[in-house]
Formats: sequence, C-alpha cells, structure tokens
Amino acid sequence: MIISCLGTVSATPPLKYYDSIFSFGDSLADTGNFLLSGALAFPVIGELPYGETYFHRATGRCSNGRLVVDFIAEAYGLPYLPPYLALAKGNEKFEQGVNFAVAGATAMDAKIFYDRKIGQILWTNDSLSVQLGWFKKLKSTLCSTKEDCAKYFKKSLFLVGEIGGNDYNYPFFVGGSIKQLKALVPLVVETIVAATSMLIEEGAVELIVAGNLPIGCNAVYLTLFRTPNISAYDQNGCLKAYNAFSKYHNSQLKLALETLRQKYPHANIIYADYYGAAKRFFHAPKHYGFSEGTLVACCGGGGPYNFNNSARCGHTGSRACLDPSTHANWDGVHLTEVAYRHIAMGLVKGPFTSPPLTFPPINDF
Ligand SMILES: *[C@@H]1O[C@H](CO)[C@@H](O)[C@H](O)[C@H]1NC(C)=O
Ligand SMILES: *[C@@H]1O[C@H](CO)[C@@H](O)[C@H](O)[C@H]1NC(C)=O
Repeated sequence: MIISCLGTVSATPPLKYYDSIFSFGDSLADTGNFLLSGALAFPVIGELPYGETYFHRATGRCSNGRLVVDFIAEAYGLPYLPPYLALAKGNEKFEQGVNFAVAGATAMDAKIFYDRKIGQILWTNDSLSVQLGWFKKLKSTLCSTKEDCAKYFKKSLFLVGEIGGNDYNYPFFVGGSIKQLKALVPLVVETIVAATSMLIEEGAVELIVAGNLPIGCNAVYLTLFRTPNISAYDQNGCLKAYNAFSKYHNSQLKLALETLRQKYPHANIIYADYYGAAKRFFHAPKHYGFSEGTLVACCGGGGPYNFNNSARCGHTGSRACLDPSTHANWDGVHLTEVAYRHIAMGLVKGPFTSPPLTFPPINDF
C-alpha cells in the first residue's frame, strides 16, 4: 500500500514553468521605468488614482492596478517584474526577470520622430533599441558564456510588446492621416521584428510578440476623431477605420513573424493577439462585467467618452469612477486592471497566442 502510494507521488511529473520573464514595451507593460526616469510629460502617473485598486499607491503603472505582464507573472508563480531603472538602487532582485518597458516608448528610435519634426511631443526617448541596450547590459551580470546564457534563457519568457502603438499615436494626435501612417507600418514592423531577432541571437528561445489593440475603440481616438457620420462606427461604437489600421499593422507583423520562424526554427515565436483578446469585451461588455460599457473612461474630466484633454485623469477637473471594474477604459488611453486581466487570460489560457505557450500556467488569476 505504502509503496503504491509513494509510487503515485513520484509518478507526478515535475511542474514545468518559466523561471524568469523579460519584458519590453510601452505603457501597456511599464511597471515603473517611466516614473523612475522622471515622467516629465506625465507626472500624474506618480499619484493616485493611478494604482488605487490593487497596489493602493501609484507604482508608475498606467492603470488602476495590475497590467498584462503582472498577470502573466502571477500565472507562472513569479514575482512582479521590477522595472530595470530600479535595479540601479541595488535592492531589487532581478534573477526572475526584469521589465524594460517604458510608458510612451516607441518601437522606432526617437531620432526618426525628431527628423519628422514631431520629436518634441515624445514622452521618452527610451525606444525599443534603448531597452535592448539595457537588456544587453544586464545580461552580462546574469550569465557569461554562451552555454551559460543558453541554459539561463531556456526557461525564460520574453515579452516583446505591445510596442509600436505610440509610433502611430504621436503622429495621429498631431493630425497625421491614416493614409500617411500606413506608410509607417512596414518600418515599425521591421523594428519590432529586428528586436525579436536580436533577442533570439542573445539566447531567447520563447518569445511572445504582441500586436496592437483596437485603437478605434479607445476613448482618446473616439474623442479626437469623433464624427457625425454614423457609418464611421461599427456595431460596438468603435471607429472602423482606426480598427482597420490596427488590423493592418497586426497582419503585417504576423507575416513578418512567419519569416522569422523559418529563420529560427529552434525558437518558439508566439504572436499575441491583443486585438482579438480585447475585441471580445468591446463586443460583449456586459458579459465581462463592464456594466458601464467599454468606451467611456473611468477616470477623466468629462465629454462623451470622459476624455477631456485639458482635464485628463489625475489633473484638476478630473475624477475616477467609483468602481473601475465596471469600465474597460481607465484614463482615456489605457485600460483598467480588469480589462488587462481578461487580455492576459486570453493569452495564457488561449486562444489568443499562436502557437501556444510551451508551459501551461501553474496559478489561476
Ligand atoms: C530626447 O532626445 C532629444 C534629442 O537628443 C532631447 O532634446 C530631448 O530632451 C530628449 N527627450 C527626453 C524626454 O528625454
Ligand atoms: C462616412 O464613413 C464611411 C465609413 O468610414 C465612409 O466610407 C464615408 O465616406 C463617410 N461619409 C462622409 C460623408 O464622410
């Protein structure tokens, strides 16, 4: 009896999961870098109501609580990723992962936007290549030889993005047309793919590369590009042309990743369909508990979508809704914790990652 009991126990396969996570991106993933870098363009991120729901203090996350990356860490039993810029202070552990994402970051280098005369509106110059530079610097402290690094990164999950959304936001917000911006897509995609490629060359074998969200459902876009033309809106009240733009970016990215998979057959290059994962709740808000809908921001200073550029969330004249879990949109630009949780679930548990992640989650969230 005892023997068979022990036999049963030892027959249980060891838990398989990721040992560490490295994340790159923008405000959708930033857990504090932008705030640590000064947050000159967006100082309210350092104050409540940012962070009010989960952390009960502002952490530098552009939401009321946790982000997709936080839920992925939870799913694999890992600590929330410390922001890279906190490591300089010396009291953060980084062996289980680091977050290099910076709110406001673009995929393409800041210089490209300065050359196009819109550099001065960038929140940060910490583009993807800057974040990769930080990674390379950190890597030398994690492992030394190629074999050593290969062993370390074998069980690391690399999150590339979401990134690229800001490459379009900045020019859209200063009057760029969809037609003009379509010309940028190949450059943005090429930048994301080059970063992914570089990470693989550095030893990454499991990577999630994220596509863009449906920007036509975003309060800032809905406010800036509001039109009396009802045929500009889809059945969910989103701007069709802007959603089509996100889809265009995503389809180009998916094509480029296919080519990358052929080049690196040993790597698991996973596409994360943020668009599809988010579209579910834009399509059926009530089903996801968004009783106040998905288009109107929880925190803002009024207007049809509660986004008012002169009284944005955190500024005088704005206020946060009583229960952020009834809203998908947090501050007009970013989503609420609950919305990010639904996206994370759609990625980790499927079906919005293709191919699927190598390891199933060990925790529910
Ligand atoms: C970005 O770089 C430009 C040019 O080097 C500089 O003028 C600007 O202050 C930088 N912006 C930020 C937010 O650091
Ligand atoms: C209204 O929007 C539709 C769909 O975007 C577009 O095809 C049409 O040209 C627009 N009409 C006007 C008058 O702008």
